[in-house]
Amino acid sequence: MAEVTFRIERFNPETDSEPHWEDYTFEPKPGSTLLDCMNHIKWYMDGTLTYRMSCRSAICGSCAMKVNGGGQLVCNAQLDDHLGCHVEDDRLITVEPLGTFPVIKDLVTDFTPFWERMHAVEPYVKGTDYEDGDKETRMSPDDFSKIDPASTCIACGACYSECVSFDMDKKFLGPAALAKAQRIVHDTRDHETQERVERLSEEGGMWDCSHCFACVQACPKPVKPLYRILELRREADKLGVHDNNGSRHARAFVDIIEESGWLDEAKLPLKSVGSLQEIMTDLVPMGIKMWLKNKYRPNPFHLLPGMHHPEVPKMNEVTKIIEKTKHSHQK
Ligand code: FES
Repeated sequence: MAEVTFRIERFNPETDSEPHWEDYTFEPKPGSTLLDCMNHIKWYMDGTLTYRMSCRSAICGSCAMKVNGGGQLVCNAQLDDHLGCHVEDDRLITVEPLGTFPVIKDLVTDFTPFWERMHAVEPYVKGTDYEDGDKETRMSPDDFSKIDPASTCIACGACYSECVSFDMDKKFLGPAALAKAQRIVHDTRDHETQERVERLSEEGGMWDCSHCFACVQACPKPVKPLYRILELRREADKLGVHDNNGSRHARAFVDIIEESGWLDEAKLPLKSVGSLQEIMTDLVPMGIKMWLKNKYRPNPFHLLPGMHHPEVPKMNEVTKIIEKTKHSHQK
């Protein structure tokens, strides 16, 4: 096999003021995983390189790092699948620590923020009572299938590395913690579903995900956190937990399109916030700023009750899609 260069971000807080790149060029064995290559570098080229690994079987979740710009487990990633990503050199692989968490050394990051969020969702079944001396509280295969994907999370943190919302807002619980929350919310043995869904609907919860899908791409398991977050939102809708901006925003989206087929961006924020105070303190100043920068030119008449854009052509098709979607959500 031809030579490959691993360009690895290095940082030693005891000696470096800034992270820097170091290159390691060698000829890997055919069929190597990325972790095999990292181990080759550490064992035969530079023993100071620091990273986490344990099981080498995609089970322990410790070897997640950023490869060619994306978070993933290196133990179940084939080297061959990662060649050809860099235009300047198709035999180059770049490796960085996971994004968003503070770096301790080289590729080892501080997972404290991750575990704080996991603990915050209380990821354990509560309130189960054991009747008639039963030792088990059983669950049907159908019920288990609802929590099966989230149960496969190995807490590797790759999803946080890519999460745009977590990057912008550290109050956000984030993808893995919300997936874990869905796993408990839909666990038929748990007796606190309503309370959990109410708490998860607060600021930093299920409604603060911005649907960038990056977690779905980064997740090495079938968890696919965004889909679990959408399941939480459907549960919130089913349980009538609507008194929050996220839920109002989702419902306003549908209502506005139902009126004329257009998504009237001027009405959306007005219908999403819960109080006049929020309109005055948050929306009006932002609207004026956007108006002045020519980023927002709503027709003020469309804001009046009963006034909206002229209907889109084939409005009946739009109505059919909305009805079908509503119907499938009620199932
Ligand atoms: S070493 Fe355990 S998941 Fe990669």
